[in-house]
Amino acid sequence: MSKQITHIDARRELRNALGRFTTGVAIVTAPGDEGKPVGMTINSFGSVSLEPALVSWCIDRRADSYEAFVNADRFRITVLAEGQTELAMRFATRGADKFRGIKTGAGAAPVLAGGCAWFECRRYRAIPLGDHTMIIGEIVEFAQHPAAPLVFAAGGFRQLCPDTGHSGRVPARAA
Ligand SMILES: Cc1cc2nc3c(=O)[nH]c(=O)nc-3n(C[C@H](O)[C@H](O)[C@H](O)COP(=O)(O)O)c2cc1C
Repeated sequence: MSKQITHIDARRELRNALGRFTTGVAIVTAPGDEGKPVGMTINSFGSVSLEPALVSWCIDRRADSYEAFVNADRFRITVLAEGQTELAMRFATRGADKFRGIKTGAGAAPVLAGGCAWFECRRYRAIPLGDHTMIIGEIVEFAQHPAAPLVFAAGGFRQLCPDTGHSGRVPARAA
């Protein structure tokens, strides 16, 4: 008997196919309302423009922190390093005490230690697109650290393979 393809099956298939595109993992944080910071794990982070320096990420409209992020004037994106899987899981869990043990100051996006880069952004645009909203930020400050990144592929966290010496260098683009 043939299996009937339902809408749910098709959606899962689409998610699986999209998940074949390997990404890094980041956590975005914002000050939130009434001194309650918000944060979530994302892999929709991307670079958009160098001049001005713009980055983007997409937030699901169903996220508890949706309103707080869409209305935030400032937010910070921390690119996670390998070994930060527990933090990634915690910030991907709805209702979790995400900031336990993390210093949070009023009015500023919380800083997460141990990542391989961070970008402090001011809100540039928020564009509703289907069931997500794309948030574009203008980078006002950033830093990077020579740590290996955490990788997300096919629904799981991964590590980069050690450099084999044959990875090649991408030609530099004209400035
Ligand atoms: C690796 C990974 C990447 C994710 N990327 C996104 C993303 O880009 N956008 C998004 O809205 N949710 C993403 N999520 C899901 C959110 O992290 C999760 O639903 C989070 O708890 C939502 O925040 P909330 O607690 O405010 O609802 C991702 C989860 C994981 C594990």
